[in-house]
Amino acid sequence: MFGKFSRRHFSKLAGLSALGMAAQPAAVTAQTATDRHAPASFPKDFVWGTATSAYQIEGAVNEDGRGRSIWDTFTHTPGKIEDRSTGDRANEHYVRYKEDIGLIRDLGARAYRFSIAWPRVFPEGRGAPNPKGLDFYDRLIDELLRNGVEPYATLYHWDLPQALEDRVGGWRSSETSKAFGDYAGYVARRISDRVKSIFTINEAGRFVNFGYGWGVDAPGLKLPDAEVNQVRHHVALAHGLAVQAIRAQGRAGTKVGPAENLATCVPVFDTPEHVRAAEIATRELNSGFLGVILEGKYTDGFLQYAGKDAPKFTADELKIISSPNDFVGLNIYAPQFYIAASDKAPGWSILPLPTSFPHMNSEWLKIGPEVIYWAPRLAAKVWNIETIYISENGTSAEDKVHADGRIYDLDRIMYLRNYLRQLQRATAEGVPVRGYFLWSLMDNFEWIFGYEKRFGLYHVDFETQRRTAKLSAAFYRDVVARNAIGV
Ligand code: BG6
Repeated sequence: MFGKFSRRHFSKLAGLSALGMAAQPAAVTAQTATDRHAPASFPKDFVWGTATSAYQIEGAVNEDGRGRSIWDTFTHTPGKIEDRSTGDRANEHYVRYKEDIGLIRDLGARAYRFSIAWPRVFPEGRGAPNPKGLDFYDRLIDELLRNGVEPYATLYHWDLPQALEDRVGGWRSSETSKAFGDYAGYVARRISDRVKSIFTINEAGRFVNFGYGWGVDAPGLKLPDAEVNQVRHHVALAHGLAVQAIRAQGRAGTKVGPAENLATCVPVFDTPEHVRAAEIATRELNSGFLGVILEGKYTDGFLQYAGKDAPKFTADELKIISSPNDFVGLNIYAPQFYIAASDKAPGWSILPLPTSFPHMNSEWLKIGPEVIYWAPRLAAKVWNIETIYISENGTSAEDKVHADGRIYDLDRIMYLRNYLRQLQRATAEGVPVRGYFLWSLMDNFEWIFGYEKRFGLYHVDFETQRRTAKLSAAFYRDVVARNAIGV
């Protein structure tokens, strides 16, 4: 069931051929290295962090009045999770959070991106808030601050309250968008005295298609294209409503933006015509979510490709959706599309990926370090973005514990070393990437893969809950300490 499914195979969603629109010429200039052996430094004040999400680590699914989420239901449905596991217990972070913050402190990384579980705060998705709903996050935030770690909160990392799915059809209804806006406002009111940056929604590009189109993620639906497009539109609307609610109810100056796994395009070679083609492709392939958020409209190419399945929307909704963001988070793991200029309309084409293309421990995680250079560069150019965070990057690995008790995750170090080099290249050339959140702080419940895939800098023994630093933790600590890669 899982093997045949390519993790980031989006060719269905975004209208991938036959599209083309004008964009502005590139304005990024290269910097000449003066010392061939100098370490490659990141900008001063670059934000180094790690990331996790609520359902993947918290456990405690029945504690303190938490409602059910669609992931509770999904993981308890036979046949959905590869190792038949659930997030019921996960990393027991709900009780072990102090120890986990100690792990963050030991890395020297001064930022941490976590997510808030909507069903803890509004067990029914809307209506009366759970009086204890934010208590855990209050404790977490305070402990982070005590340890000198800046909290970055994400409001939605896929754990939709089951009640909304049952009562209004979840993201099939704009009622859910409104409920999300209310939830966002409530949370902002409570935490923005201490949390200065809020990510709205994590990876619409994944959960919409996987959850509502292909049935592999919660809630496991296989809806026709028209409905999937409508779901995506409702998620974009939820984002816009949340931005407005945070501005209205949060402290002045609270920063807000999405965390999106944009469809990543890489020019097949670094020549002006392929780069230009990749810019146009980036815009067209991302019109369904990031594009409409940042432009306030769907591109003609997107609407044409969707045809009768295009989302239904009003001008007012587009205005809400495109409420200005303070930053854009990009989750970047793998190159998805290698793009070439083409003589034929629309002027660019997607090249077929060879089956021999290398990947990491997860089959979907193709190795292409240049993607973390090109994706932010192209996005910044296409949408004039001024502040980008890499809101996730990292890799799964075998992570065997050796007889000496250590984990020599040389493949993860290889991956990070190469990706961070390319990220440094981007910052040195002026691409406005201000920070990086490594996925993940520790091994956790990896959705449909259960506990079989490990992405952490810290190994977790899920029987004993013992955390052990992998070699990559030392690697990352060093990068963070020197704010540089290489010697
Ligand atoms: C990102 C998600 O898509 O990738 C994370 O935001 C997730 O939540 C990570 O854990 C790895 O994905 P997967 O599907 O291999 O577990």
